[in-house]
Amino acid sequence: MDFGRFGSAGAPDIAIDLGTANTLVYVPGKGIIIDEPSVVAIEQSNGTQRVMAVGADAKILIGKTPEHIRTYRPLTDGVISDLEIAEEMIKHFIRKATGQPSILSRSPEIVICVPSGATSVERRAIRAAALNAGGREVWLVEEPMAAAIGAGLPVAEPFGSMVVDIGGGTTEVGIITMNRLVFGTSARVGGDRMDDAIGAYMRRKHNLVIGQASAERIKLEIGSAVASPESHLVVGQISGQDLGHGGPREITVSQGEIVDALREPIAHIVELVCTALEKTKPEIAADIIDRGIIMTGGGSLLRNIDQVLADETSLPVVVADAPLRCVALGAGRVLEDVENRETLCPA
Ligand SMILES: Nc1ncnc2c1ncn2[C@@H]1O[C@H](COP(=O)(O)OP(=O)(O)OP(=O)(O)O)[C@@H](O)[C@H]1O
Ligand SMILES: [Mg+2]
Repeated sequence: MDFGRFGSAGAPDIAIDLGTANTLVYVPGKGIIIDEPSVVAIEQSNGTQRVMAVGADAKILIGKTPEHIRTYRPLTDGVISDLEIAEEMIKHFIRKATGQPSILSRSPEIVICVPSGATSVERRAIRAAALNAGGREVWLVEEPMAAAIGAGLPVAEPFGSMVVDIGGGTTEVGIITMNRLVFGTSARVGGDRMDDAIGAYMRRKHNLVIGQASAERIKLEIGSAVASPESHLVVGQISGQDLGHGGPREITVSQGEIVDALREPIAHIVELVCTALEKTKPEIAADIIDRGIIMTGGGSLLRNIDQVLADETSLPVVVADAPLRCVALGAGRVLEDVENRETLCPA
């Protein structure tokens, strides 16, 4: 690939981890300077639409807005589901990252992460959104590759490394050797599906309808992938709307119940990893047996999920430092470090 095409400094200007749940922006020399939820609030008045809030300011409005204001998450399952809103969101974050007036003398070149399972149509949508948001040139890096680099794995060496990234929308499994993603698979299961599963459980077992934000909150507070002898003692409060009388109700739930609720999405993730291991070439499998699996993404912070994966695969499993930031850090390193440039794929 001809990297002479990169900007004046010989490198693109910003890296974006455009995630289903969170968007992070990395600027070389500065690091991650934006880390916000992928949410946009739009206000409608007199037939026109206006962006009212983006990121954290928009997330707090979810489920609480009057009729004329709507909150959107422009990504679903790791890919863009609403192109226009995604563009608005990227535009906002680029402006915020590069300052106003921009610290850049020209529009930025952008490295943006894509799920390895994204179709060519989905890749084109990501590229179009970044271009329409003001990018001059757009480069794609596959998320498992970025995650592996950000987690500090020796991606350039002739050893197989396995990374499992559990995001909000997707779980990606990648095997990397010599700067190449030699195997990648993903499933549309991650933190969002866990929240949905908690919502469905509360409805089924407690006749309670809860919002997505409440489901996520209880997952973070007491969620676990596996029960421990103390799980019945770990409890949290959750409120919602009673299906019977229709009024608000608050209940106490135990960690054991959340473990039950999460059984299906966790099993799905385990199955994805096991299938990937079955398909791995023997030489690379031997490396992975030696080095184990590294986990990244917000879902890897669910209590004991590393232990479940270790038990089911009989391999050592380690959660990376700052797992929510690995993909953005890795994409950033691709910008800064010439050696990693090989990992970029043209958009
Ligand atoms: N401590 C925690 N325990 C369980 N889940 C967590 C924790 N912290 C964050 N999460 C979950 O991680 C998810 C967000 O992770 P991340 O930011 O890696 O996703 P993303 O990159 O936006 O999504 P994707 O890569 O699928 O597009 C959310 O579903 C969030 O609820
Ligand atoms: Mg992600």
